[in-house]
Amino acid sequence: MPVVKSKTHERRLHPLPLRIMHWINAIAIFIMIGSGWKIYNDDVILGWLHFPDAVVIGKWAQYGLQWHFFGMWIFVINGLCYLSYGIATGRFRRKLLPVSLRAILATANDALHFRLAHDDLTHYNAVQKILYLGVMAIGILIVISGLALWKPVQFSELAALFGSFQTIRIVHFLCMAAIVGFLLVHISLALLVPRSLIAMINGGPAVDRGVARAAVAAPEAEPSH
Ligand code: HEM
Repeated sequence: MPVVKSKTHERRLHPLPLRIMHWINAIAIFIMIGSGWKIYNDDVILGWLHFPDAVVIGKWAQYGLQWHFFGMWIFVINGLCYLSYGIATGRFRRKLLPVSLRAILATANDALHFRLAHDDLTHYNAVQKILYLGVMAIGILIVISGLALWKPVQFSELAALFGSFQTIRIVHFLCMAAIVGFLLVHISLALLVPRSLIAMINGGPAVDRGVARAAVAAPEAEPSH
């Protein structure tokens, strides 16, 4: 006769693997941006834009490049883990989809009139959804354009898709600018709603108290051979 055991699973709003990947990504992106600015200073795209030494990483452009490659491996490997985790666990489907234009406009309107509610951390509003999906898409584009900049001969077909080498630089630069813009909004919101920041550190509230019933068959009579 099989014995049925009950096991209680308590899932946090932000499970541990997600938090680890989020904070590794935050460190990697700061290395990428600071070192990227150092490399950019060596051959600027916009004549008036030169990043001050206080905010760049690497004493010389060559050091900036080495930091950039170091950050790149962390960003790419961690990013692939995050994307696979989000797809495999259904987190992206549950938390980021669907997102409709109507909901985005309504949420943006609420935000402009300071009517956005922050009491429920377990649901992302439409603007959060589009920002998170958008930054992931830009993260993918910045890696693709970075590959074409790094190895334009080996990835010549990829590089050709952009047209010219200078176009790849501009695309890469614009992706960086979009990520910096995202971070300004993202970090400001995290500081404005400190509960959300604490939840990204300690996991936040339990969101799912599912009861999994595991049927463990009691050892029956050994089959006779
Ligand atoms: C110091 C830097 C950062 C801080 C303080 C921060 C803070 C947070 C917080 C508090 C949340 C929970 C969001 C919420 O409840 O609305 C969150 C989620 C998220 N953050 Fe950040 N973040 C930082 C850096 C980054 C970076 C660099 C990226 C990507 C470029 C990023 C992408 C995301 C994404 C995609 C989520 C949603 C995660 C999910 O639920 O699957 N964050 N962040």
